[in-house]
Amino acid sequence: MTQVHLHAKDISTLTGQTLVVFSKAASQKDKPAKITHTETAKALAETISDKIVSGSASEAISFREARFLGFRHVICVGLGAESKISAESVRQAAAALIKEVKSLKTTEAFVHFDGVTASKKESAEFMQAFVEGLHLASYSFDELKSSDKKTKEDIQIHMVTKSGKDKAIAQAFHEGTILAACSNFAKRLGDMPGNLMTPTALADEAIRAAKGTALKVTAWDKKRIEKEKMGGLLGVAAGSAQEPRFIVMEYFGAAKTKKPIAFVGKGLTFDTGGISIKPSAKMEEMKYDMCGGAAVIGTMLAISQLKLKINAVAYVPATENMPGSRATKPGDVHTARNGKTFEINNTDAEGRLILSDALCYASEQKPEIIIDTATLTGAIVVALGNVHTGYFTRNSPLKSKIEKAATKSGELVWNMPLTDYHVKDMKGTFADLSNVSSANGAGSATAAAFLEQFVGEGIPWAHFDIAGTAWACGNRLNYCSAKGATGVMVRTFVEIAKQY
Ligand code: BES
Ligand code: ZN
Ligand code: ZN
Repeated sequence: MTQVHLHAKDISTLTGQTLVVFSKAASQKDKPAKITHTETAKALAETISDKIVSGSASEAISFREARFLGFRHVICVGLGAESKISAESVRQAAAALIKEVKSLKTTEAFVHFDGVTASKKESAEFMQAFVEGLHLASYSFDELKSSDKKTKEDIQIHMVTKSGKDKAIAQAFHEGTILAACSNFAKRLGDMPGNLMTPTALADEAIRAAKGTALKVTAWDKKRIEKEKMGGLLGVAAGSAQEPRFIVMEYFGAAKTKKPIAFVGKGLTFDTGGISIKPSAKMEEMKYDMCGGAAVIGTMLAISQLKLKINAVAYVPATENMPGSRATKPGDVHTARNGKTFEINNTDAEGRLILSDALCYASEQKPEIIIDTATLTGAIVVALGNVHTGYFTRNSPLKSKIEKAATKSGELVWNMPLTDYHVKDMKGTFADLSNVSSANGAGSATAAAFLEQFVGEGIPWAHFDIAGTAWACGNRLNYCSAKGATGVMVRTFVEIAKQY
């Protein structure tokens, strides 16, 4: 467990185990790095001129037993060249610090935050980013290990700044804490295996997490889903012994007359592919196929904890995709909630089917916008790898809001094309639609075109395909686990919500 505290103090008035100072890379190669706590810089003068401290981004160097000011050890955390420091580099620096704190085996560190920047505006922004980085990097999933294998370290990080009482700084600290906690909440849902994170369990987690907040969460059972004519969700759930759930989350932070913003997330708790079964290699990764659902649940928790003055709703269709004896077969035709029929030519393209009903239901609420997210296609992984989330929208004001939000959150997104050509490719032969494209390639765009058929006329809508970004596989950001769910999109979605 890592706890992070904020102190309105001058660092030189404190004593403790470890002092953390920032170092910045010199603008010229032959010049030494700059340490932003002058006293420390003087004390470490030789080390700096020998360039042991380079100040480069995400460098963290410990000086054990430095016995400096009232502290025993000193850690220098690099921020890179002054002109290139951004919220994201600060977030990454925080992750580097967490790693170093763990390897130093210190349990307490005091961060001299006044050294991060001289700008007031930046210091609030960087405070949020640093706190996010600390919490995100501290996440670990070991609740399923026996107790002697669990990480036990208790780390206390103290953020020390003279302006700790400033409203903007305190608010930034608060926001960073909530955003990271809700992203970590989403990671945990993703990391839980399919046998434990069933549709029912996912619904229960959402209900439990919302207790004591202004969020109202309900979960429809199979009977209710049948009554609501959700043929897409039922068709996918047909092959599984686990009952589906349709999770509904509501938050009213503004007048009831204000239109809500609606989130929809794919809650496929395990995707075997169904009768069109997937190859066994890496099939275990398909426990992450509910990360879209986890992202919107995390987003709603954050919105309510931040007490945003907006209305927001979220819908998570949750089911397994299994090849049981009652499973949907290739060629079967099902009817979505809005009456449109689809032939299922590949039972592995199931995400779009469960989302169809959820998008219909979301549209019926007449929301301001609809945002959906899903681990929808392998094609997006081919197109963008695992750094950028691909998003689709035909609404340019919404596109601008998304870009602005992602710049703030640091989560990388990439705008993908969605046209009438893609819609044409999804026409069915025996039903209105086919769940697979008749054309070659552009598998993510045709999937998006399918989803678009269930979005109400005139409602601004964007779809985020997180198949490549929902879990880390070793080559991602250093505040993500080396392997596991990333909690991606929570931070960006909250930033989008804040714009309404
Ligand atoms: N859950 C998968 C998409 C996926 C693939 C997520 C790889 C994460 C990593 C989805 O349900 C799926 O299987 N999609 C198919 C669609 C195809 C049959 C049209 C795919 O992308 O192969
Ligand atoms: Zn699938
Ligand atoms: Zn899937």
